[in-house]
Amino acid sequence: MAFPSVQTLRELQKTLNSTIDSYVRAVEANDIKQSIGISTRAYAAARDVTDAFCDPGMAVLGAGLEPIMNLALRIAIDLDLFILINESVSLAELVKQTKAEDTLLHRILRVLVGTGWMAEPEIKTYSLTKRGEFLKLAPWRDWIKTSFDSLAPVWLEIPEWLRKNGYRDIIDLKNNPSMSMYGVNWFDNLAKYPSREADFASSMKLKDEFPQNALPQFPYASAIENFEYELQQGGSDVFLVDVGGGRGQYLNQLLEHSDLPENARFVLQDLSTVVSSVIRSAVKFEPMSHDFFSPQPIKGAKYYHLRAILHNWPDDGCYHILSLLKDALKAGYSRLLINAYILPELQVPAIPSMIDVNMWLYCGKERTENEWHALLRRAGLKVLRIVRAEVGLHGIIEAALVDEINFGT
Ligand SMILES: C[S@@+](CC[C@H](N)C(=O)[O-])C[C@H]1O[C@@H](n2cnc3c(N)ncnc32)[C@H](O)[C@@H]1O
Repeated sequence: MAFPSVQTLRELQKTLNSTIDSYVRAVEANDIKQSIGISTRAYAAARDVTDAFCDPGMAVLGAGLEPIMNLALRIAIDLDLFILINESVSLAELVKQTKAEDTLLHRILRVLVGTGWMAEPEIKTYSLTKRGEFLKLAPWRDWIKTSFDSLAPVWLEIPEWLRKNGYRDIIDLKNNPSMSMYGVNWFDNLAKYPSREADFASSMKLKDEFPQNALPQFPYASAIENFEYELQQGGSDVFLVDVGGGRGQYLNQLLEHSDLPENARFVLQDLSTVVSSVIRSAVKFEPMSHDFFSPQPIKGAKYYHLRAILHNWPDDGCYHILSLLKDALKAGYSRLLINAYILPELQVPAIPSMIDVNMWLYCGKERTENEWHALLRRAGLKVLRIVRAEVGLHGIIEAALVDEINFGT
């Protein structure tokens, strides 16, 4: 074990203390925006202190064993442990409720305590930590299930596929690891397993759990104001089409929080297997089965919104989707909203960089601002503005027909 030098520790301590002081000042001044920015720095400063004490060998050992943590989480979810544990619960009580053998349960629980998901205030007594409490919510549990059951099997295939394919980037829908394993692409394989598909759809609701300031808030106000006028001019009564909108997670939030025109229509489009589970009478939008690789049936709507869609496809697939959408846009009126990660050129944080690599499963990728501009330009579209979330890398790119900008308004 290599111990950090006193000088290093003093410097880390100074940085951490001053970051915490700034954070406390921002919180006391009720400056939410400032405090969020500082909390990111405080997290990094605290991690530097942890790293200074971390033996590199232990870090490598831990990295190799990380899948075991995922295994323990996956089993705990099957056994409903995150639902059964409220306050402190004894092992004996958990055995009674789960019917699992006590030694097996004990070994799983030990991993979950050691990796910070649970606490063990007394011998063989368990409670949930702050992050363990999150797994009481279905979308977070379903993300772990999706990762373990539907993503990880293909991750395991990737090194061999890359060896055989000369380390080419994974962007070919006809030749990729999912194809090698299943003979079909990832989404087509998922469709064969309704319960996994349901877990995936539920895990997509994770975004509802994000703090509001981590989600880009698009200003719909002026379009709302003009909607009545446009309608009188013979414009479409559809305000927004959520293309590939899943089960309506974005639309539900939008319709709940915004003051939208009463007579405006909101349409949810997704594959029939997905929209068929939406109960029409229980929602304020219109579910419609639509494959985005076929012509867009709703013409001239104000907005066509795509969230977490284009990252699932290589550039050629995105071009195809965008070209079909472009044909539905009314020049001078319709707008395309791409709700996605916008990666920085420098130092992409861990989670977005790993989400990008996960996109190999679908031959997709996360894109930088320059890559978004290039993709839209190729499809005859142009970026009008980018509305970014207060924190994080999510943004909404508003785009319009290039011709309209050159020759129109
Ligand atoms: C990553 S999810 C995003 C869902 C939603 N937009 C959100 O942000 O929560 C991708 C969605 O695209 C849908 N999808 C995949 N292929 C499609 C296709 N060819 N046509 C329409 N929807 C499709 C999937 O069913 C899924 O709901």
